[in-house]
Amino acid sequence: LRDAALLAEDGVITWIGPSAEAPELVAAPASASDHRVGDPGGPSRQEAAEIAHSMDDTAHPHPHRIEVVDARGRAVIPGFVDSHTHLVFGGDRADEFAARMAGRAYEAGGIRSTVAATRAASDDELRARLAGFVRELHRHGTTTFEVKTGYGLTVADEARLARLAREVTDEVTFLGAHVVPAEFREPDGPGADAYVDLVVGEMLVACAPHARWVDAFCERGAFDAAQSRRVLEAGRAAGLGVRVHGNQLGEGPGVRLAVELDAASVDHCTYLSDADVAALAGSGTVATLLPGVEFSTRQPYPDARRLIDAGVTVALASDCNPGSSFTSSMPFCIAVAVRDMGMTPAEAVWAATAGGAAALRRTDVGALRPGAFADLTMLDATSHVHLAYRPGVPLIAETWKDGVPVG
Ligand code: NIG
Ligand code: FE
Repeated sequence: LRDAALLAEDGVITWIGPSAEAPELVAAPASASDHRVGDPGGPSRQEAAEIAHSMDDTAHPHPHRIEVVDARGRAVIPGFVDSHTHLVFGGDRADEFAARMAGRAYEAGGIRSTVAATRAASDDELRARLAGFVRELHRHGTTTFEVKTGYGLTVADEARLARLAREVTDEVTFLGAHVVPAEFREPDGPGADAYVDLVVGEMLVACAPHARWVDAFCERGAFDAAQSRRVLEAGRAAGLGVRVHGNQLGEGPGVRLAVELDAASVDHCTYLSDADVAALAGSGTVATLLPGVEFSTRQPYPDARRLIDAGVTVALASDCNPGSSFTSSMPFCIAVAVRDMGMTPAEAVWAATAGGAAALRRTDVGALRPGAFADLTMLDATSHVHLAYRPGVPLIAETWKDGVPVG
């Protein structure tokens, strides 16, 4: 929509349409605002006087504030929905990144160094770190984000990470099956299957109350199809929705397993056979692509065009984590997806908003429509195309979550 207006009330969108047709806001008593949304002569941001939402003060004892924002020709899009992050961790792996850029390959095993740093960090350290990431997400226009566990890998540490993640989001994923921790690895430890026993037993019991989802890293160097299936089925039996890390480092069983279990999403999808693409196309499973990973591991980008042309629902997410993709910027992901993955700007913005919502099986975020949360991002640009057209430029002018400015 051009020259559009949008009304939100109590954090929910109530009307959207051409600005000329916007309902008049009720003028407040005394000093209140009578500016309409989109009023070209209005102030860029007017804090109207506190007014009663209704004339009946007994029914509405808390006065509402009417706030009018004139976007002045700038584009407003839904806040980004980042459906895949790993934001509770200690330390970082800048040295590993530098070594990779000097030619070393990415391996799933690097996860274990973050596990050690995370176990050593206090709750308050992890909480402060997480709060910093949330500010970073908001500054980049993200209003809904998922957070995975997976750097604890003991019952107590995984439960702690799930609890800390739950302090900042409803979308918590239990990823005890991230990698087999060092103390379980053969030849000295009891082995991968014994670790899976722990994940589907005591660890799941401790984490499920904080989580909405279960995930497994089904990949060479992590968990095979049988082990991943055990974890995902146990999570599902405990009431969690299913998501899968699959087909990141090579073709493998992840996508087929995800589709068979009706996972909400299978993430990475970098190496896909024709059969994988066909399976996804006939399923309710979203393919979530994570361009930051291929950027930061120097692997070939996934082929979004092939998936979209086959009728697959595609989402974009940051996968923000200290190993394979240390970016929290959805605009960056959009730019790469457009430049290198065959997506149009409109497809990429859709994938980063409505697509992310689909990957979380939600319709209350990721779109500007009446009834959805007023999670909005205003760009310092006249259209969404600029997100890809002006890569690396901070284009997020302002972001609202539930109608409240967050960055
Ligand atoms: O999504 N693939 C598995 N897990 C993360 C990487 C985690 C790490 O390298 O620390 C990912 O890429
Ligand atoms: Fe991941």
